[in-house]
Amino acid sequence: MPRSLTRTAPLLFDAMPGLAGRVPWRPLAHTPTPVEPCDAIAGWLGRGDVWMKRDDLISPIYGGNKVRRYEFVLADAAERGATCLVTAGGIASTQVMATALLGASEGFSVLAVLFDQPVTRFAQQALLVSATAGAQLIYGGGYGRTTWRTLWTWQRASKPYLILPGAAGPLANLGYLDAMIELDGQVRAGLCPRPDVIVLPSGSSGTLVALALGASWLGWPTEIVGVRITSLLACNRLTINYLARATARFIQRFSPSVRLGMTRYRLLHEAIGSGYGHPTPEAIEALPQVKALLGVPGEVTYSAKTLVGLRALCRDPYYRGKNLLLWNTLSSVQPPADPSMASRLPPELQRLLNAPVIA
Ligand SMILES: Cc1ncc(COP(=O)(O)O)c(C=O)c1O
Repeated sequence: MPRSLTRTAPLLFDAMPGLAGRVPWRPLAHTPTPVEPCDAIAGWLGRGDVWMKRDDLISPIYGGNKVRRYEFVLADAAERGATCLVTAGGIASTQVMATALLGASEGFSVLAVLFDQPVTRFAQQALLVSATAGAQLIYGGGYGRTTWRTLWTWQRASKPYLILPGAAGPLANLGYLDAMIELDGQVRAGLCPRPDVIVLPSGSSGTLVALALGASWLGWPTEIVGVRITSLLACNRLTINYLARATARFIQRFSPSVRLGMTRYRLLHEAIGSGYGHPTPEAIEALPQVKALLGVPGEVTYSAKTLVGLRALCRDPYYRGKNLLLWNTLSSVQPPADPSMASRLPPELQRLLNAPVIA
């Protein structure tokens, strides 16, 4: 596990001084997270010298790509006097789990509305993890019904703070801008080569946008490759460019002198299969590789499809000889999942605990 929770401010506040004291933040991430070679899967990838950034280890409570964001988002919720976090996501959503676990550890109550996605062992575990953390889970069903149930729940909750699926937004994106400055420090210290390409799963694309803004701010010619894991409606160049501009504008409100552009990025669309959370034969074949890399079972929504995308890059002559870095966004920390908590779930979700699984 990375160093303990000793930070008193993100690196970003030194790099962009206007933010300090004006942007909410609190320490949740144990940083720096390690950078390591992906030797365990070099054979499967068909090449060596691929590195990974282990944000899967970023917190003993729960790892993954929400922790850096929540340093800003949960601080903002507290500053606004909120006591209840309201969010939504699929039944296997790691964002819902992160909200349940980190929200509880920061003293918030959590309400989460869940939409249908294919039932996997990971999804069954996720329901118990969030219930064990004390979150109240509400069955949403389809996207439409989940949307109005979420707004309705938010309207009726006392002192609520709404966190949209993916928890991406200009404030949240500061977390991964800060992460690029952390990686720059590790490159300068000779811990890993400066990546020519950073590969990660892309859903709301907040992480991709922040890494691309960070690379550009550092003056790195690094390409950010997002493996699309959600619908084209949610993850496309239009939404990405809009989010990038909104994030840059947000920062310039506090640090007008900061110049932020986007470094090169691309989306890989081939790994998505029939949609968010739907397994593909390639993703199922990649699951043991996630286990080999992280030491814990992978899942088919984010991690396995990203490895499929990474392997495609490793086989692409254009990327031969380039330094590739995989940014791990899935937690390898396994929170408690108490089976007796099933009774706290609404019947529609309880039924899923015994449903046949597809992966
Ligand atoms: C484990 C994991 N990886 C990647 C992503 C995608 O990140 P983003 O929404 O920033 O594109 C998510 C989003 O929920 C996630 O939970």
